[in-house]
Amino acid sequence: MPLIPRGRRRATTVAAACSLTLALALGSQAIAAPPSSSPSPTADGATADGAARQYEVGGLATRAERTELARTGVAVDEVRHGSVVVTADAAEAERLRDLGYELDALPSTRQAAAPEDYATYEEVLAAVDEAVAQYPDLVSSQVIGQSYEGTDIVAVKISDNVADDEDEPEVLFTHGQHAREHLTVEMALYLLADFTSQYGADAELTEYLDTREVWIIPSVNPDGKTYDTASGEFQMWRKNREPNAGSSAIGTDLNRNWAYEWGCCGGSSDSPSSETYRGPSAESAPETQAVADFVRGRVVGGEQQITTHIDWHTYSELVLWPYGYTYDDTAPGLTQDDADTFAALGTAMAETNGYTPQQSSDLYLTDGTIDDWMWGDQGIFSYTFEMYPTSEAEGGFYPPGDVIDRETSRNREAVLLMLEYADCVYRIIGAEAEYCAA
Ligand code: ARG
Ligand code: ZN
Repeated sequence: MPLIPRGRRRATTVAAACSLTLALALGSQAIAAPPSSSPSPTADGATADGAARQYEVGGLATRAERTELARTGVAVDEVRHGSVVVTADAAEAERLRDLGYELDALPSTRQAAAPEDYATYEEVLAAVDEAVAQYPDLVSSQVIGQSYEGTDIVAVKISDNVADDEDEPEVLFTHGQHAREHLTVEMALYLLADFTSQYGADAELTEYLDTREVWIIPSVNPDGKTYDTASGEFQMWRKNREPNAGSSAIGTDLNRNWAYEWGCCGGSSDSPSSETYRGPSAESAPETQAVADFVRGRVVGGEQQITTHIDWHTYSELVLWPYGYTYDDTAPGLTQDDADTFAALGTAMAETNGYTPQQSSDLYLTDGTIDDWMWGDQGIFSYTFEMYPTSEAEGGFYPPGDVIDRETSRNREAVLLMLEYADCVYRIIGAEAEYCAA
């Protein structure tokens, strides 16, 4: 039986041997269902219950202006020409208006997906177990820690002779730091399905899996993911689900909780109610700590085995690279050659999927993000991919289920390119003799 990358409940309950056509048909059924997930908007666009929703904020054209807005603690979802889209609840929207920002509520009725369109975390774990059972020489999985609520966080290894720690460059993919970005977890399921079904069939992929070791952490934030869909209505949830001392607000933004220049630069918030709350200390969140410990554990004989990494997010169709904490192109630990290498591989990957390549701080400053830590602390060439779509109008964080196959496979070539260069990323600027001589 082929491994089905999508764990959509409707698809999996109907038939185990569900064909692609059937999956697509069921997907469109899901889209036709009424958008029960949208709180009914009132005339001024606010939601009756004050729940978080998206707003367009006008009059912002530069990264400095966007950073100033982000500094208020709001999460920027989308950068447009002259404006941005943010998520805010009623109180935060009022606060922003008091600060003088012009907010236009965006209609949530455009939301075309239902929670059933995306795999649950249980279904993700089942797909992993199934892959391990079906391809025992190629796939293994291990528990690397627990979420705040005690759910296992797993890392899947895919390589020939998977049981042996061979001396091969390692490539890491992390998914779902942000709860509502369900398409990124589908990306993990796609990679798992593609790498297993195409090993031995696709010569290029086979060569890479014979000479590299791939790690996939399908969901870094299982509590948040589950919370976002458990009620049957999307919650627009971003953070983890850890309570905060002295506050009724829940959650730390995992992608502001990493231990490199944590909280340095106004690229995160110290307020627990903020969508970009950085936590009380670096690596305070159990999820951050589990992944960081796993990565540190890949230092063998004094050398970090992981050379390259993608942290998957939605949305905006971007390929981003460090640093996020500074606008500068070079900085401590990031030389001109490093910056050129980041840009060269980032641009080459973006050419395969049509995303826009840029240094992450071109958007706005962020601090304590995973990619800055991966590079600054571990020397790993780390990218952030913001997947489909480009805008809130195309579904934002919740695009319809029938785009999942297209928008995950869209990244196949970029991933293969990263695998190709994993043995010596500096080769892409012709500097292998200087940096990668044996
Ligand atoms: N939208 C993502 C976030 O807010 C990515 C921000 C870009 N910066 C970065 N360092 N990756 O976490
Ligand atoms: Zn994200």
